[in-house]
Amino acid sequence: MKTDVKLHPDHQFDADLLDYAIAQLRRSRTPREPVPRALHLSLPEVLPELGMGAQAALRELSPIALDGAAQLFHPGYFAHMDPATPTVAWAAALWQIAANQNLLHPDAAPAARELERRVIDWLKPFFGMAGGHLVPGSTIANFTALWAAREVRGIRRVIASDRAHLSARKAADILGLEYAAVAAGPDHRMVLDDRTDRADVAVVLTAGTVATGAVDELGVTNAAWVHVDGAWGGPLRFSDRYAALLDGVEQADSVGFSAHKWCYQPKGTAAVLFRDAEAAHAAMSYGGGYLAVPNVGLLGSAPANALPFAATLLAWGRAGLARRIGAGMEMARAFADRLRAEPRIQVWGEPVTGVVVWRPRDVPSTHLRDRLEDAWVSLTDIDGEVWLRCVAANTSADLDWVMDRIRAALDAIRS
Ligand SMILES: Cc1ncc(COP(=O)(O)O)c(C=O)c1O
Repeated sequence: MKTDVKLHPDHQFDADLLDYAIAQLRRSRTPREPVPRALHLSLPEVLPELGMGAQAALRELSPIALDGAAQLFHPGYFAHMDPATPTVAWAAALWQIAANQNLLHPDAAPAARELERRVIDWLKPFFGMAGGHLVPGSTIANFTALWAAREVRGIRRVIASDRAHLSARKAADILGLEYAAVAAGPDHRMVLDDRTDRADVAVVLTAGTVATGAVDELGVTNAAWVHVDGAWGGPLRFSDRYAALLDGVEQADSVGFSAHKWCYQPKGTAAVLFRDAEAAHAAMSYGGGYLAVPNVGLLGSAPANALPFAATLLAWGRAGLARRIGAGMEMARAFADRLRAEPRIQVWGEPVTGVVVWRPRDVPSTHLRDRLEDAWVSLTDIDGEVWLRCVAANTSADLDWVMDRIRAALDAIRS
């Protein structure tokens, strides 16, 4: 094999450029205000005619991409389901982008297709499923599951809790399925009456609602298809300590979860798993002239997102992932206790899956959030009222740090 092949300059290994990118990244890891309040987009308004060169382009973009980004790893960032990603995933993502495998074509992704299958093999037993595939998010996982339900079992209607994520209704709308929301209890947990006849119905059960992290009763219902939307809470199955919170998931026909939430992966990484994966995949399989193998699922060209995920899972093992998830659960509970000890704060309920919902008693939640300095929490609407929400997705979150900033903001509002 000749080693002195002449590659196009775009493909020559530019160590200086990568060093520059890494130096900028390193610089940006120093904690500052976790969510920049103002961003000045200093880019040209029309597409530049002439290029400025790679390093200059990165120099232009670093104030936007790095300084303009929320610091999800900040000790005071305790806000959304979006995790700070581990360094091993960055490194593997760099390889992934450099190789640019396309799962659509076996000859454009000989190893990446196998790698995804292997990752699915690692994941599926925790949910009692037979197989599945990676998708870019739980929105697509929910869609794909209901698509399979329509094709395999002929379902015509979807039932979900009134606390379910909007993607369940979105999927039903796209698929031409009737959608009905069932009232969950005051704890946001839906318990379905098993006696109702649901011959043409797919029931969507949520394991970790988006607003409060509640888990529906997951046992069998007599529906034609049961899908568990475990976008947030699904990864609890990897924890010996907390897996039982999702007992019953193994009776579902399909399960989805977002690895880009509680498995700490870069965006675009989620899984949809099926009890009868052969039937589900056959129902969404399309052959075509240019394809060597049928295209299965919603995506056409598909990235090798299994690579950063596999790197993380190999680096940590199941136990390492479970330890991080468990620490998040314990952090959320400890945070709820701290908030309860503060008389100026009301806590919505005991956190079930690492989501803490709370608000100040005497001032609107938005006032408190606006006054927070060096800390960040999210807002959530519950029955028309605005609450504050903290999610245990940041393993660097520091409870003392966040509590101190909350108290300081309350003091500042009073004075
Ligand atoms: C319960 C639930 N389902 C579905 C979704 C959508 O997931 P994604 O953002 O991965 O598409 C979310 C997002 O927060 C969610 O919480």
